Amino acid sequence: MKFDTPATTNPIDNGKVIGHPHDRIDGKLKTTGRAPFAYERNDVVANQAYGVILGAAIAKGSIARIDTRDAEAAPGVLAVVTHKNAGKVGKAKANTVKLMGGPKIDHYDQAIAIVVAESFEQARAASHLIRVNYEAEQGAFDLAAATATAVKPKLGDSDPADSKVGDFESGFAKAAVRLDQTYTTPDQSHSAMEPMATIAAWDGDKLTIWTSNQMIDWARRDLSETFGLPKKNFRVVSAYVGGGFGSKLWIRSDAVMAALGARAAGRPIKVALARPQINNNATHRPATIQRIRIGANRDGAIQAIAHESWSGDQKGGQPETAAMQTRLLYAGADRMTAHRLATLDLPEGNAMRAPGEASGLMALEIAMDELAEALKMDPVQLRIVNDTQVDPENPKRSFSHRNLVGCLKQGAERFGWDRRSAMPGQRREGRWLVGVGMASAFRGNMAMDSGARITVGSDGQVKVETDMTDIGTGSYTVIGQTAAEMLGVPLEKVTVLLGDSDFPKSSGSGGQWGGNSSTAGVYAACMKMRAAIAKKVGASATDVVFENGQVRFQGRSVALGDAVGSAGLTVEDTIEFGKLAKTYAQATFGAHFAEVAVDAATGEIRVRRMSGVFAAGRILNPKTARSQVIGAMTMGLGAALMEESVVDPRYGYFVNHDLAEYHVPTHADVPVQDVLFLDEVDDKSSPMKAKGVGELGICGAAAAIANAVYNACGVRVRNYPLTLDKIVPYLNKA
Ligand code: MOS
Repeated sequence: MKFDTPATTNPIDNGKVIGHPHDRIDGKLKTTGRAPFAYERNDVVANQAYGVILGAAIAKGSIARIDTRDAEAAPGVLAVVTHKNAGKVGKAKANTVKLMGGPKIDHYDQAIAIVVAESFEQARAASHLIRVNYEAEQGAFDLAAATATAVKPKLGDSDPADSKVGDFESGFAKAAVRLDQTYTTPDQSHSAMEPMATIAAWDGDKLTIWTSNQMIDWARRDLSETFGLPKKNFRVVSAYVGGGFGSKLWIRSDAVMAALGARAAGRPIKVALARPQINNNATHRPATIQRIRIGANRDGAIQAIAHESWSGDQKGGQPETAAMQTRLLYAGADRMTAHRLATLDLPEGNAMRAPGEASGLMALEIAMDELAEALKMDPVQLRIVNDTQVDPENPKRSFSHRNLVGCLKQGAERFGWDRRSAMPGQRREGRWLVGVGMASAFRGNMAMDSGARITVGSDGQVKVETDMTDIGTGSYTVIGQTAAEMLGVPLEKVTVLLGDSDFPKSSGSGGQWGGNSSTAGVYAACMKMRAAIAKKVGASATDVVFENGQVRFQGRSVALGDAVGSAGLTVEDTIEFGKLAKTYAQATFGAHFAEVAVDAATGEIRVRRMSGVFAAGRILNPKTARSQVIGAMTMGLGAALMEESVVDPRYGYFVNHDLAEYHVPTHADVPVQDVLFLDEVDDKSSPMKAKGVGELGICGAAAAIANAVYNACGVRVRNYPLTLDKIVPYLNKA
């Protein structure tokens, strides 16, 4: 089904199942430990051996000599694979560097060997017996230093690296109030609970992997490119994923090394990246340096706005697109944005939850707070004054639906924003300085073609099959709800099977496109099923009503199972997104409010309340959507106060490479989180009229907290995270 004109009234609008806060249909399996994650799939193939990956101990250079003899002779060892005996191992276009290194080393902990043994312990012990001599080269690890040689990266035609409208410099020079500040965000780790893990089994030249991956079809394509075999030779299964956040958009070394190890051992094997390997072996969110200049009139109207962002990556990599939202968020006649990319020899930088906006709004929304202060204006009001209903870079293009102002107003009211003191440091409760802050939330809404297969059995049961993944987001549930709504059955009658490349190709999970896109694919397949059933009962498709497990037409009523006949019916379709995404700017919006307390002596920061109001089209399931948003707000809290992958500038690796040293918020750090979704639909986003929510909640959350810290204690921190060392020295001066 093509989707290229705005959606009209359709069966989803009935809202009997869709839009209701159903519990996750996979919830019991997950909470009782019965949802099998990749490493636990002992049932899928017999005779599994264990693989352990050895990572490079240098960041740049080459392997001069690698001696595996002792490892090969160790007890239980079945195979040791290095670049010397692996055969030809290519690089998928989507991977910036090879997932198996050697002799050339691209980054620290790049996989250089896999040891396969009868037991995990034997494999791990033997991996310590591999002796490697390196020829190390000096790498570039410091972003600030590398910006001197940064270049303009090549990005997509629709979102080029630079944009210019009007004349920024002269507009800025003329503005009554000017802000010019530079902000930094650090490297961050996705830190998903489930490590990258794969079971690999070859059958001749056909490979099946049970793995943890967000994008089944991309994984298949990338395996094909890596091993030089046709895509059809690869089956990828990823039924449950314990968090991805972008770290599993593409295959990682666990998949490639498992395939190599299994081939060498002549056995299926299972491999997981050990927690301390993940941060340097896999990808991270790249650090940024962002300069923002905004010039405004005395009434707050922005005249000129510029956002420049520098980030680094391996050669051939991509920038963190931190200035993108500044093209769309606020009005202003004279504008410019630019992204510059420095070459670094750190591990591969890549997408992490809301790539671009998450980092970009950390900077932009502090800048707006600073501008509001300079204008002596309420920060909420400043954002309202600069709202735009059209793309400010291309005023002929309007937003498909935009209610940022509604989020700001309702958020301010719910939070009690009117009780804020504009002057910092005014509210003291014992040893605590208390303050409030806010920020806008913005995240683009992307749509990806997505297919599904629907089967209705003669027993009236509905089965949905699609290679869509559920990375903890609720895909199983919203897909089930969609099929139930479309075919007029309760959710309990629907079985949802996900994450298998044998099923129709879906949108996969990424960029918060999965919920809207994959359910739209199910919608398309269900429309086809409805037509097929109508034909079967001899009615016209527009005449038939699907309700309460019955098919009603021409005054008659037939049970759904009877209508499809004894053999049942199976149909398949794909939603294909057309020009609406280009004709309209599509995005999701929100407003964050936070209250923090800062210890006047120690600088300890406690977030006391977070409140968010979001506008993201139809909310398919308020319960799973809320979970997404509070998870993302929590991640925003982590970004504000804790998260930072610390680079060792001598050896070029992330020092704090485990969950003991890479700090993320725990329950005790997270306050009450209040979430409201505005009641809206977006008829240009899909027949579901929904948009993404998985990433929106992180966007702006960190800045709201940083702004609240300033309001509490008068210390303006522009370099994330807001750790004590950046607060304490300035506290008494506040
Ligand atoms: Mo997302 S960072 O595209 O999984």
